[in-house]
Formats: sequence, structure tokens, C-alpha cells
Amino acid sequence: MLQRFYIETFGCQMNEHDSEKVAGLLAHRGMVAVNSPEEADLFLLNTCSVREKAAQKMYSRLGEIKKQKGTNPNFLIGVLGCVAQQEGEALISKAPFVDLVVGTHMVHALPDLLEEIEQERGGRRRVATDFMESTAPVEIPQVIRQNSFRANITIMEGCNKHCSFCIVPYTRGRERNRPAKAVMDEARRVVDQGFVEILLLGQTVNSYKDPHNRRFKFADLLSEVAAIPGLRRLRFTSPHPREFDDDSISVIGEMETICNQIHLPVQSGSNPILKRMRRQYTRERYLELVDKFRNCGRSIALSTDIIVGFIGEKEADFQETLSLVEEVQFESMFSFKYSPRPETEAQNFEGDLPEEEKTRRIMALQRLQKGIQLRLHRQRYLGRCRNVLVEGTARDGVRRYGRTTTNKIVNFPGNDQPGTFTEVLITDVGPNSMVGQKLEEIEQNQRKQAYGTRI
Ligand code: SAH
Ligand code: F3S
Repeated sequence: MLQRFYIETFGCQMNEHDSEKVAGLLAHRGMVAVNSPEEADLFLLNTCSVREKAAQKMYSRLGEIKKQKGTNPNFLIGVLGCVAQQEGEALISKAPFVDLVVGTHMVHALPDLLEEIEQERGGRRRVATDFMESTAPVEIPQVIRQNSFRANITIMEGCNKHCSFCIVPYTRGRERNRPAKAVMDEARRVVDQGFVEILLLGQTVNSYKDPHNRRFKFADLLSEVAAIPGLRRLRFTSPHPREFDDDSISVIGEMETICNQIHLPVQSGSNPILKRMRRQYTRERYLELVDKFRNCGRSIALSTDIIVGFIGEKEADFQETLSLVEEVQFESMFSFKYSPRPETEAQNFEGDLPEEEKTRRIMALQRLQKGIQLRLHRQRYLGRCRNVLVEGTARDGVRRYGRTTTNKIVNFPGNDQPGTFTEVLITDVGPNSMVGQKLEEIEQNQRKQAYGTRI
């Protein structure tokens, strides 16, 4: 009988949350989570295939884990997530020591699959990668959350967009929305439990529609969740620029609970490239959307994703991306070199750029962005007070760190509990993080200086 499990997660926030669901399912059948693979008798690797590197990383990690089978003959290895979905049976031929492959739609079936394996005692391996036909994902009875103050909540899964570079529609399937009632019940429950932040998740989160009432859209859900009494911060990821309607922008403009940070993945600044990518917007339409956020009544920090070196990207196209980055002034950015993925439309395009050229472009882009971030941090944060949600102990092991509503990391001396809020004066900024001092401490020091300390 399997008792102890360990889950390792690669990839995006949806994967992180899928692992929380898996942990819930396993705990539900009486298993306990352990702190290292060595202590476990079930090792699960939740994988990512969005770029080739991530998929390769999976095989090398499995190779390391395999060794444990030598010392523990009952040790089981399972692969979950996008690579599991994509490779299915083929994964077992490449890594024959893998006992279980569970695709993105079959997570809920994990307890039954384990039961079958246990009953057969070392019998046949299990591969479950069917796509469910249902319109809504299967509800998971219990979720074990990784942190005690931010609750991830799935509102939709899958993607209908088919950007020509992206594997996600093939690994996650078509859009499936969760009923609004299920989302609201979960959201109210986590707030009752003391969570102060909610992160709504979906591959194109803002294309959400209630499967029971298609007129109930993302804007409606967002405003209902944001209004839950006791909830302090609401985030969502990842939206698609095309799917932001005026209703959702006005909800964001009105509801203070929604964090002042919106992720707007642009991918490229060049119209011919955006068209080849099938992003369904032009540079001009994207910039109009940026303007709408700038004028929505609150100050919103924008972040983005950019791919450099997409097939057919000429130097002039790349310059268009740099000029867009200069124009928008994003507060943060994730940048990637284009990586050809199986099944995608772009895999059939001719003329993948040389690796050195992709490297040159990504370095130029990152250099530009670093300068922008440093300048924005100086202008918008240095010398100002920010409300910080404390997350834990900083990397130095001494200070605390937390996040502003704009998702900036701030390190500061203190011993505040994770999940509490504190006002921090920003005293130093770098391109990626900031340093501050708690306002209450500064005030205490000032009082001490003004009146002296009487003993
Ligand atoms: N649904 C989300 C996540 C998509 S994958 C969204 O629309 O933002 C996350 C990011 O990975 C994408 O925004 C894109 O910038 C990058 N990405 C996706 N496929 C890629 C590929 N083949 N090569 C390089 N980067 C890629
Ligand atoms: Fe991928 Fe485009 Fe969907 S980036 S997840 S196909 S919106």
C-alpha cells in the first residue's frame, strides 16, 4: 500500500495548482506528503512542454530519480502534466522505468489508477491521457494549498486560440469553464479559512464564461470575487489581450481589491510577426488596450511576455518589438527565445533562426528592459511607502520579503508573519527587487530621536 508521496512541479502557475489538486486527491486516500523524494514511495513529476528545454529537463530529472528504484523495489514513478499528455505511451518507451503517465484531463482519476496498480502488485503500467468531452473540468474534492495566504483557484482550463507557436491547446485541450457557482463557493471558502489573496487561473483566463449561463462573463466573475468581504487582494493569470472587453476594464478600474498589476502578453511588436503568430491583434490594437488601462482610473503596472527570434522575424521586426517595449514601459517582462514545438503550426514554417541570433536579440531586449525597470522603480517606488503582503523569510535568511500590489518583491528587516500586511518605505531599488524599512519602525526611531530614551 502506497503511503508517502512527493510531487515536483515544473512550469506555470496552472501546473503549480494542478499539483495542489493532486496532493489533495492523494491526501484524500490517506497518503501523506513527505519533504524529499528519498522518503517517498510515490514520486510524481508534473511537467511542462511549452519550450523544448522544459521537456528535456524532465528526462534528465527522471534519470536521477530512477536510481531510487535500485534501493526501493516498491518505489513508483509517475509523470503528470503537459509532457505526459503530449507523449502518452511514447514516454514509457523512452523511460521504461516510469510506472504511470497521467494527462492533463485525467488528474481526478489518479486515485483509481493507483488503486489498480496496487492491486496488481507490480503489474502493468498505467497510461491515462484521454481528453474529456465534458464542457467543465471535473471538480476535485480537496486541494492542499502550498501557502497559507494566497489561494489559487481554477476558473477555466485549456485554450481555443491556437497561436501558431504554442503547444498548450494540444496539451490542455479546448477551453473548459468551471461553473461560476463552484468558483464562488471555493472563493468564499478560502476567504473564510483566512486566505487574504486569491489568484484566478486559466490559460486564457479572461475568455471565461459560465457554462450554465454564457452571459455571465469574466467581468461578472471578477467583480463578484473581488467583492467577497475579507478578501484583500485579487489577481488573475493569464489573460489574452484580445479577450479584454470594456466591462472587464471598468471592473478593474473600480474594484480596489483587484491588484494594480495586469499581465498583457504581447509576444511581438511587429504586425507581420503578430499575424504569423496568429495573435489576433495588431500592434495598434494592443497599444489601444494599453491606453485603456492607463485611463481606467487607477494606476496599473503592466507586465508582458515576449518571444524573440520567431520564424521570419527580421531585424526590422525585432526593432519594432524594442520600440513597443520602449513605448509601453512595462514594469516587468518574461522573455523567451522561440522554441519549435511539435504539433504546432509554426513547426512547419521554414527558416528557424540561428541560436546565436536568438541569443543576441534576447540579450538586447533584456538589457533594454532592465534599464526601464530600474528607471520605473526609481520614479514610482523609491522614497515612497508601499503596502506589502508578507510572504516569508528573504533569501539572506534574516530579513522578510513580501509583495506590493504591483507584484514587486520588497525585502525588509522584521519578523512579521507570512500573510500579514505592513507599510514599508522603499529605501533602495534594483531592477528586480527593492529594499525597505517598515514604517512603524521608522516612526519609533524618529520618536526616540526626538524625545530621547529615558531609562
Ligand atoms: N496562456 C498563457 C500562457 C502561454 S505559455 C498566455 O497566453 O500567456 C507562456 C508563454 O510562453 C507565452 O506567453 C509565450 O511568451 C511563451 N511561449 C509559448 N510557446 C513558446 C514557444 N514555442 N517558444 C518560446 N516561447 C513560447
Ligand atoms: Fe498558447 Fe496562445 Fe493559448 S500563447 S495558451 S495558444 S492564447
